[in-house]
Amino acid sequence: MRSGDGDGHDLTEETTYERVRAAQSMSRRDLMRFSATAGLGAAGFGTAALGTAFAAAPAAAAATGIVKPLPAELFIPQGTNAETRWEAMSGQGYVTPVDRFFVRNHVSTPLIDARTWRLKLWGTGLHGSPAEDRPVEFSYEDLLGLRAESLTAFIECTGNGRSFYTSQQGQQVSGTPWKLGGVGVAHWRGVRLATVLERAGLTRRAVDILPRGLDADYVDKGENLGRVRRPLPIAKALKDVLLAYEMNGAPLPPDHGFPVRLVVPSWVGIASVKWLGDIQVADEPLFSPWNTRYYRLFGPGYPPEGSAPLTRMNVKSAFELPWDATLPAGRRHVLHGRSWSGNGRVRRTDVSVDGGRTWHRTRLNDVHANPRGWVRWEFPWRPHAPGRYELLARATDETGASQPATAPHNTLGYLFGAVVRHPVTIA
Ligand code: MTE
Repeated sequence: MRSGDGDGHDLTEETTYERVRAAQSMSRRDLMRFSATAGLGAAGFGTAALGTAFAAAPAAAAATGIVKPLPAELFIPQGTNAETRWEAMSGQGYVTPVDRFFVRNHVSTPLIDARTWRLKLWGTGLHGSPAEDRPVEFSYEDLLGLRAESLTAFIECTGNGRSFYTSQQGQQVSGTPWKLGGVGVAHWRGVRLATVLERAGLTRRAVDILPRGLDADYVDKGENLGRVRRPLPIAKALKDVLLAYEMNGAPLPPDHGFPVRLVVPSWVGIASVKWLGDIQVADEPLFSPWNTRYYRLFGPGYPPEGSAPLTRMNVKSAFELPWDATLPAGRRHVLHGRSWSGNGRVRRTDVSVDGGRTWHRTRLNDVHANPRGWVRWEFPWRPHAPGRYELLARATDETGASQPATAPHNTLGYLFGAVVRHPVTIA
């Protein structure tokens, strides 16, 4: 993996990092000035929000290529990524605040100037088949001028929970060893992708689109795979996908895709391409490493080319507790957690405090659960005997899908949907 910033700067080198970031903060200030005069306020972007979105990165974030601060109480560092600590969701509202929303970056966060940015659409699935070098273009302001839509949805890394293949099932997998913090829910606001595709001249022949990010080329073990891009079937693209320019009521922060990202609800996080630069629209199926060599299931039981490309995420649950939490004995605790599913609403979550022998139904706190978000739940517990415990949570969604005791193995460690055994010490 690279740790540069796409302009040949090595951001793992602290002094280079400081110099590059100092120069970049200039363009951020310029952007804020521009934003204040260019009518972005009309779209609900206060300058205060912009100030937050573009706060300078501390030197501590240098090695990751991530711009926002990554305090140890909110994040677990994972290379170029940052995992949300679940205890940091305790006491929060429905959505994950930006300051603790996980970041999954193949390379460093690029800083993009919204004034010169254009979304380019091209390909054989558009009228007149515009070529890549003569695309249909939309500026940031063009998008802000189109009818805005809001969506509350989770984005989840397909490898979320991957470490449990090894720690719970003794299996080898490759990839970032996430616990369960590779997921977050946000309020997203933007324009429907369908609106922009139709304005660009979508034909009935279109079958696939290929959104591509503006971050630097991704190099995997010396092989340059080009920019992050993953084909999306036209049916999903037209159904509920958003070209988001706002996250939780403020402009997208740099790490989450400024100026515009896709939000592909319920699907594998890789579909939600950040820092969107162009979209190929094709009258034939499209391929990239991200729907062929990654984001399929590989291993015994799967064909050599892997399963079909992964689409929906599965059912999961997490406790809002530190990993290996310590709680006092003989007191009443209210265990809080959240469950979510790419299949739709979570209907119930059951908890076990005795390692899975007995199960108890939790109280769901979001009665009209959002099918694209998560549901919060709680369960009172009064542990008497000091010692080590394992807390288990098992959700069931509206399709009847539930969390099994073990997850079927695949070598890249995707879609760990089994019940996670959360260690707790009662002292
Ligand atoms: N888009 C680009 N351009 N580059 C990336 O590295 N990572 C993807 C997706 N979009 C990625 C991207 C993956 S794997 C995930 S899980 C989500 O972004 C994570 O979104 P977040 O960092 O806003 O949480």
